[in-house]
Amino acid sequence: MNDFSKSVDRRAFSSEKWNRASIAGICGNPDALPFWVADMDLRVSSDISAAMHREADLGVYGYRDSGALKGLFINFMRERHDTVLDEDRVSFAQGMLHAIALALNLFTKEGDRVLLPYPSYHPFIDMITKNNRIIAPYHLKRTASGFALDISAFAKASEGASCILFCSPHNPTGIVFSEDELRAVLTLARDRGQVVLCDEIHADLAHPGHRHIPLIKANEDVGARVVGFAAASKSFNIAGEHCAFALFSDSGMRECFERAQQRLYLTQPGYSVAVMAEQAYGKGLEYNRALCQALKDKLDRLEDFMTSRTPELRLCRPSASFIAFIDCSAIMDRVREDRKASPGFYGENYMLSHFFGWHGGICMNDGTWFGGDDYEAYVRFNFGCGDDLLEEGLKGLEKAVAAVR
Ligand SMILES: Cc1ncc(COP(=O)(O)O)c(C=O)c1O
Repeated sequence: MNDFSKSVDRRAFSSEKWNRASIAGICGNPDALPFWVADMDLRVSSDISAAMHREADLGVYGYRDSGALKGLFINFMRERHDTVLDEDRVSFAQGMLHAIALALNLFTKEGDRVLLPYPSYHPFIDMITKNNRIIAPYHLKRTASGFALDISAFAKASEGASCILFCSPHNPTGIVFSEDELRAVLTLARDRGQVVLCDEIHADLAHPGHRHIPLIKANEDVGARVVGFAAASKSFNIAGEHCAFALFSDSGMRECFERAQQRLYLTQPGYSVAVMAEQAYGKGLEYNRALCQALKDKLDRLEDFMTSRTPELRLCRPSASFIAFIDCSAIMDRVREDRKASPGFYGENYMLSHFFGWHGGICMNDGTWFGGDDYEAYVRFNFGCGDDLLEEGLKGLEKAVAAVR
């Protein structure tokens, strides 16, 4: 039975999220409760726990035969996303970010422009610049309820780019793109000869009432050059275990990717990740469905609380996953005054994170991490935790806002 009402106490287990020095680095206050980095405090499925117990008891962790994993993933994609994958167009990869970086290196060249939607998960910003490509920024349109894709502005921004680095569902806004939106992006890319790389790490966590469509499926009768990237990391809360799959629109791209992996000796999953991912993809559908429902319930609680108790803050309600972007524009002038009055609370960066860290005792990612000053009025709140901890987080939001009312 899955119990998503309780957090697992990870304090004694080297969790990055709960590490006091890391928390201080984000929000100044080492005692703040963590609602930042994107892993959850919720227990994994009993199948994953049981398999790990069995392996622990075995006491030997040699080379593992992980040949079944790809087939389990392909079955999961069919059942969870109604998407039939051709085995010849799927590759295992040792983690999401390295797989995307490898594809970026293979399918674009130095000096190329890469369209990146903002706000953006920070490693994408780094990845493009560190690999000597140029970011062509597209800022998602701000709407009354959050952010949205404006396809004509997107088309303009992506002129001259050789690649689109997309994230679907989108981190940090939680947008689940519609089939029409995905097809519009793909059609543009096809007509302009652009390759689309699409991080779908949050795909399995679309909330009830929302449907994620894998880009590779939306592309079936469009015919753009596409690589989608899937992983069990977020969906099954095994984010520290790097394991991903790359889904190619043609087998030539797959061969090119696998040749590069072979040159770099990046072809095999580690032992423990294979154990966990086999359980996740082989037996995880029911866990995954229950988790999606639990996340929606937690989000409803967050939204109700914010509407009644912190009306100054605006929730950009996500349609997937366990992270929510919160618009704090209405209190920014007062936060700036607070920084002038109490400079000791604030560091050089992450003003809003420091404000909530010290006044509310809660640690959230600062909006500037997702694209600089344009997003300084936002924080990202991770609600993937037990109900008690969530209540502490809500109190922290209110306490901080009350300090500048
Ligand atoms: C959109 C996105 N991509 C990639 C990652 C990192 O994935 P991994 O650690 O499996 O490389 C994250 C983690 O938060 C993420 O949100």
